[in-house]
Amino acid sequence: MNPTIDLLRNHRSIRKYKEVALSEEHIEAIITSAQMASTSSNVQAYSIIGVTDPELKRELAQLSGNQAYIEQCGLFLVICADLHKLKEATEHHEQTFHQNTESFIVGTVDAALAAQNAAIAAESLGYGICYIGGIRNKPQEVCEVLALPELVYPVFGMCVGVPDQEPSYRPRLPLQAVYHSNTYQADKVAEGVQQYDEAMYEYYKERTGGKTLTTWSKGIADKYAKPGRAHILPFLEARGFQLK
Ligand SMILES: Cc1cc2nc3c(=O)[nH]c(=O)nc-3n(C[C@H](O)[C@H](O)[C@H](O)COP(=O)(O)O)c2cc1C
Repeated sequence: MNPTIDLLRNHRSIRKYKEVALSEEHIEAIITSAQMASTSSNVQAYSIIGVTDPELKRELAQLSGNQAYIEQCGLFLVICADLHKLKEATEHHEQTFHQNTESFIVGTVDAALAAQNAAIAAESLGYGICYIGGIRNKPQEVCEVLALPELVYPVFGMCVGVPDQEPSYRPRLPLQAVYHSNTYQADKVAEGVQQYDEAMYEYYKERTGGKTLTTWSKGIADKYAKPGRAHILPFLEARGFQLK
């Protein structure tokens, strides 16, 4: 359709990289592209730590559930929600900084939007990327390793590097399970999920040579049968976030 849409539709996460560093020029292009993402009221409530030091990458890989591609990739970004800089700006004017769940959402959304711009910029330069939610497995330790101040938390990491694999595309839910014209149509979603289950059964079967025989909804059922990362709320409170 056009090169931007082609690029977006060509995405797949890369989990094997050549150990090649990114040039400063490319890092700057990726981060300045991230910065031009829309941001709530221009607050820019995020910070990005670019990790290239092999020892730091090794530590972060371990803290994220031993995901080896964090060590291999040329650049590991840790994308953080950052209310610290907003508090500093407020206090500079001798006013009191007020925060709540809304400001937490603002920081998290700003971080995600900037990250996705970084991902697209990196892919447009021929790099592969993989988001790393595993960075929230041991978030307090990650904060210490990266010297993050209070009111800054790592939302996720992102590997960026020269791909050393060509994985297949992961199919997505049918359009009708995601996009609604004017009002939400729950029955269309249910139908779409059923179709997707059939497609994903075949996808998993093919990708694993017949070893994995499951569906998308079963994966969701297993994932949500127990609470995920229950340590996150106490962690955020200890970082100074007030979720009220
Ligand atoms: C916020 C977020 C966290 C993720 N965390 C991980 C992770 O820790 N490890 C990993 O291998 N993939 C991770 N992924 C990648 C997803 O598994 C992947 O995007 C999804 O399965 C769709 O596949 P695709 O990106 O290849 O199209 C994450 C993706 C997102 C958006």
